[in-house]
Amino acid sequence: MEQLREEFINQFGDHGELVSFFAPGRVNLIGEHTDYNGGHVFPCALSVGTYVVARKRYDANIQLYSKNFSGAGIIETKVDELTYEQVHDWANYPKGVAALFQQAGYTFPYGFDAIYYGNIPNGAGLSSSASVELVTAVMLKELFQFEIDRIEMVKLAQKAENEFVGVNCGIMDQFASGMGKKNHAVLLNCDTLDYQYTPISLTNEQLIIANTNKQRGLSESKYNERRQQCETALRDLQTELDISALGELTADKFEDYKNLIQDDVVQKRAKHAVYENLRTINAVEQLQAGDVEGFGKLMNESHVSLRDDYEVTGKELDALVEAAWEEGAIGSRMTGAGFGGCTINIVPNEVTSRFIDRVGQKYTEITGMEADFYVVDIGDGAMKL
Ligand code: GLA
Repeated sequence: MEQLREEFINQFGDHGELVSFFAPGRVNLIGEHTDYNGGHVFPCALSVGTYVVARKRYDANIQLYSKNFSGAGIIETKVDELTYEQVHDWANYPKGVAALFQQAGYTFPYGFDAIYYGNIPNGAGLSSSASVELVTAVMLKELFQFEIDRIEMVKLAQKAENEFVGVNCGIMDQFASGMGKKNHAVLLNCDTLDYQYTPISLTNEQLIIANTNKQRGLSESKYNERRQQCETALRDLQTELDISALGELTADKFEDYKNLIQDDVVQKRAKHAVYENLRTINAVEQLQAGDVEGFGKLMNESHVSLRDDYEVTGKELDALVEAAWEEGAIGSRMTGAGFGGCTINIVPNEVTSRFIDRVGQKYTEITGMEADFYVVDIGDGAMKL
């Protein structure tokens, strides 16, 4: 933080009061591609994320600078000029949140200077963008003393990503970054936004993230394609069923009516969405009952479903997960959108270091790439420091 404050003063000068903020990235333990289907997710906030040092101004200028994208220099805009601009690159995320605050009636006459620094590995699918959005939201609330509750901030951040940046994500990432709680995961019903914290107090195991280091590439268009397929499935089912989301279906209901879904591929997508939602509820019950093995088994089933029915894994994620299964993981699955990014693993303490060596080795043999491993430290949601 000291360094970031110094950098702030270098960039923007030494006057006025500086305020600091943090918002975390997230890792999802189970419940993948269920959020935009009105289903359940079970993510937790990480202790890595995005830091901001900011200062209110007394004119309409906004100046944004990121230590991670220092080559882009200081990006300048104004409170009444918050539109998407390709050349503003990363700064479209904070600009989007500011614009959505304004649209929702949280207006501010003055601008601000803000410097960002993130320590989430780049492009790893650990929600660095949600952390930039949420850290911006808590900053705006504090600088301009808005009466706005956390869930409202989470919703505005998601809206900024959907409408301003143009990425059609669900609400999981912003919710985890805004509402995370140290040493807990949160079971979120994405339809109602009801949520419940569950302590993650593993004593004999560790949670380990493995990063394929494969950038997600085409993932955005494939992500949107999956969303559309789920919408098609829902429309087909609605010809006979009175439902508003796939997340409302039980397994029996789905099996009875699945033939209404015309296209076979679309039917597989819907099958994943329905069963993954039920699996998530079931997994959290098992964890709450102390059954880590049971939880891990459902993580494995989640991966298989994402691989075979939802088809969002790919060679790299599958290689990491299969190696993890062979090397003693109690549970291993891809996490996040897929097509690259990370896996999440529950690994018994006594095999952890061997696990990292061998899974890393096998991954390199199969893909020619190097994986990175991080022990998960579950942190709190966005905050003023
Ligand atoms: C991305 C999206 C989330 C969610 C996951 C898949 O992380 O941002 O909203 O849909 O993919 O579970």
